[in-house]
Amino acid sequence: MLRLGILVSGRGSNMEAILRAAKRGRIPAEPVVVVSSRPDAAALAVAERMGVETEVVGWAGDRDAHDLAVDAALRRHGVVGDGGLVCLAGFMRILGPRFVSARRNRVMNVHPSLLPAFPGLDAQGQAVRYGAKVSGCTVHFVDEGVDTGPVILQAAVPVAEGDTAEALSMRILDQEHRIYPRAVEMFARGSIRVSGRRVVRA
Ligand code: GAR
Repeated sequence: MLRLGILVSGRGSNMEAILRAAKRGRIPAEPVVVVSSRPDAAALAVAERMGVETEVVGWAGDRDAHDLAVDAALRRHGVVGDGGLVCLAGFMRILGPRFVSARRNRVMNVHPSLLPAFPGLDAQGQAVRYGAKVSGCTVHFVDEGVDTGPVILQAAVPVAEGDTAEALSMRILDQEHRIYPRAVEMFARGSIRVSGRRVVRA
């Protein structure tokens, strides 16, 4: 069975959605570890309550050392090679090219905009300030860029007149909780593959 490692930095609601779907048997994968970049992340208590082991990997001084420490934590729990998938769920650190190339198309991320619009920080605020009428969320494989990897699933969310970044974030989050577990499920069932920068049905 596919071994899932989930990387978090904060609240962990996407992590929880994935863990719930796995526990219900909808995702044929075993969540084996949650790794947090922050010791005070609320996600840690949620993961422990759901019976998943946790590790904290703080900033190790430089990117390479940090990536090696994250990789080692995942390996300790058997999230390795073709038998492993890494899900970034509100993980606020950028993984370097060595980590990404060693796990090519085996690291997923969720981002709160319809990429390639509004990459980077505060995507929902960017959409509101830009005056976009529609935003949404994207689940994608992680490549060497920031929010640039092959798109697996997207969901659109209308931006209402007078929306604040916070109000829009909450509506986008509902859609994240729907499409992220679905993307992990498709991966775990072997029903998608990557062709160039397109994700297609296998
Ligand atoms: C989510 O909205 C996710 O899309 C976003 O952080 C939030 C995490 O919430 N991620 C990014 O902005 C990454 N660039 P959660 O901790 O409740 O899952």
